[in-house]
Amino acid sequence: MRAPQKDPQTIEEAAAILRSGRLCAFATETVYGLGADATNSDAVLAIYETKGRPRFNPLICHCPDMAMARKIAVFNPVAQALADRFWPGPMTLVLPLATDAGLSDLVTAGLETVALRIPGHEAARNLVAAVGRPVAAPSANPSGRLSPTTAEAVRAGFGGRVPVLDGGPCEAGLESTILAVEGEAVTQLRAGALARETVEAALGIAVPTAGHDAAIAAPGMLLSHYAPNAGVRLNAESPAPGEAYLGFGGFAGDGARAALNLSPAGDLHEAARNLFSFLARLDASGAGKIAVAPIPVTGLGEAINDRLERAAAPRR
Ligand code: TXA
Ligand code: MG
Repeated sequence: MRAPQKDPQTIEEAAAILRSGRLCAFATETVYGLGADATNSDAVLAIYETKGRPRFNPLICHCPDMAMARKIAVFNPVAQALADRFWPGPMTLVLPLATDAGLSDLVTAGLETVALRIPGHEAARNLVAAVGRPVAAPSANPSGRLSPTTAEAVRAGFGGRVPVLDGGPCEAGLESTILAVEGEAVTQLRAGALARETVEAALGIAVPTAGHDAAIAAPGMLLSHYAPNAGVRLNAESPAPGEAYLGFGGFAGDGARAALNLSPAGDLHEAARNLFSFLARLDASGAGKIAVAPIPVTGLGEAINDRLERAAAPRR
């Protein structure tokens, strides 16, 4: 365990840390990312070590603009249309790796595709622009644990071993939606902060969930993921004795040992933003189990239910 790291106070200080090959966590509009220079294998290796992440799990590359994105991936017309419409924003595209992309093989885990996005958070784009190289960044949490949506949650997860550029609370609160583009076809590898319906409406085509093989290619699909310490019980209209309760809309969990409501108004965007931090707070209440209200599966509800199902899955 290394000594506590001094947090950077400016984008320039954070960029200098990243350029020197060290890790730095930073805010995006989705969740906080644990950043490393994507062209530096030692730096990328430190991401895997710090997170305790399975080695085969490839990472998302963050770019400030299309000029950098085009140097690392090949955009066909469908990919370009998605980029035009949804970047900067909470969408990750899995595209063929460009020749001479210059990325560490550890970023792609040896695949011939690369996952990349231009984040919607302005400070994140400015940070990557100041680094001048793509920044690989998974969520800034130990592997399999809740994703952090505040700088404080990053510090709690890594015990202060990673410097954090505080960019305030994350606006979306859920990871980006991952889309794979192959020719004319677009498949969703991970539900996220951009609703599938929004993508389908923009393209005028169906965007199915990728099949089982593709799910293995995107190991963010590992079943037990995003897990609190407590067990999780889904679709619970009320808490059982001793349970903490994560409410939604009219399901408020009266009588629970601890209760938080993701959105009393039943707003899925508000619920997404609160999801990880509320799970962490209920976890900290010491309850053995967190019961979760039913949440609709439309729009952002697909991604919310996806994360909750993983949190509830049997642990590895
Ligand atoms: O919102 C987000 O996407 C956050 C913020 C920090 O940007 N990042 C994030 O990264 O969630 P991470 O590393 O936790 O998720 C990466 C996901 C994994 O499920 C991984 O398997 C998938 O992207 N992935 C990366 N490269 C891939 C590839 N070439 N093919 C298929 N899936 C890929
Ligand atoms: Mg993650």
